[in-house]
Amino acid sequence: MERRLLELKEQTIRQIKQAAVLDELEKIAVRVLGKKGELTDILKGVGKLSVAERPVVGKIANKIKTEIKRVMEEKKGKLGIEAREKSLKDDVVDTSLPGKRSVIGRAHPLNIITSEIVQIFSRLGFSVKEGPDIEDEYHNFEALNIPADHPARDMHDTFYMKNGNVLRTHTSPAQIHIMKKTKPPVKIIVPGKVYRCDSDITHSPVFHQIEGLFVDRSVSVAELKGVLGFFLHELFGHNKKIRFRPSYFPFTEPSTEVDVQCVKCDGSGCNLCKNTGWIEILGAGMVNRNVFRSVGYDPDEVTGFAFGLGVERIAMLQYEIHDIRLFYENDLRFLKQF
Ligand code: DAH
Repeated sequence: MERRLLELKEQTIRQIKQAAVLDELEKIAVRVLGKKGELTDILKGVGKLSVAERPVVGKIANKIKTEIKRVMEEKKGKLGIEAREKSLKDDVVDTSLPGKRSVIGRAHPLNIITSEIVQIFSRLGFSVKEGPDIEDEYHNFEALNIPADHPARDMHDTFYMKNGNVLRTHTSPAQIHIMKKTKPPVKIIVPGKVYRCDSDITHSPVFHQIEGLFVDRSVSVAELKGVLGFFLHELFGHNKKIRFRPSYFPFTEPSTEVDVQCVKCDGSGCNLCKNTGWIEILGAGMVNRNVFRSVGYDPDEVTGFAFGLGVERIAMLQYEIHDIRLFYENDLRFLKQF
């Protein structure tokens, strides 16, 4: 029995000294000193030994237990320090290395202008809606009081599709969709892409418009002037003069175009405003009774005003951009300026 104990002691201490990580020590401790460990077993069996052997074996076993524990603690301390040192070494931060620059994207100028405009109208209680990019001629023209033989159709440079549908030439057809599925009052703005077969430094075959529509029981021209005047002052500054010029659109009667004092020369005349002192910003008018009829509204019951504006045009004025194509080329040198 004594031999077995001594062997166990030597073997265990050897293993402890060889252990390279704390985990291994833990396993050795369980195997030898644990509840079912080898040394524990021997100690449990002491009672069964002869009276003569009992005190001798018990004493040796306890001494060995103490010794193993001591060696174990010593090694634990050593391994702990080594582990700490290793992790300190591995985790070293080289503060002289260059940092990682995180690149933050930014909004496209057309989106910046669109959200500015949307925000102004939201504050006046308009909600944002959408309409489809592909329309039939009925929604793009007829329902808006532009019959097939109407000269206004020529101005639209329409892209026709093989099946007779069109790419919408303006956001106005969204008025029809929304009024058809909503009972008045309607108070909406509709931002979206529009398409015209036209291309030069101020025209792109795809560009962006924002449509507005306010219909209720007694909406008047005064409200049109109030809302659009407020909008233009918010966008261009309260010091700017605004004028409403009579105009013509098939879907409104009366119709108006709204100008703001030239953003560049403040009205004294320059190349931007072609020496008129004014810049045209939007088209608007009181919704034509025929439009109400085509959506099933009673023109004796409701009135309303509508307006439409070009986002690129406003962005070009605000940021003094002279070539519309810059918006679509995704040249970072351009985009990073906003
Ligand atoms: N749809 C017109 C265009 O594309 C813009 C417009 C003018 C919209 C007057 C309107 C409006 O709603 O009342 O040129």
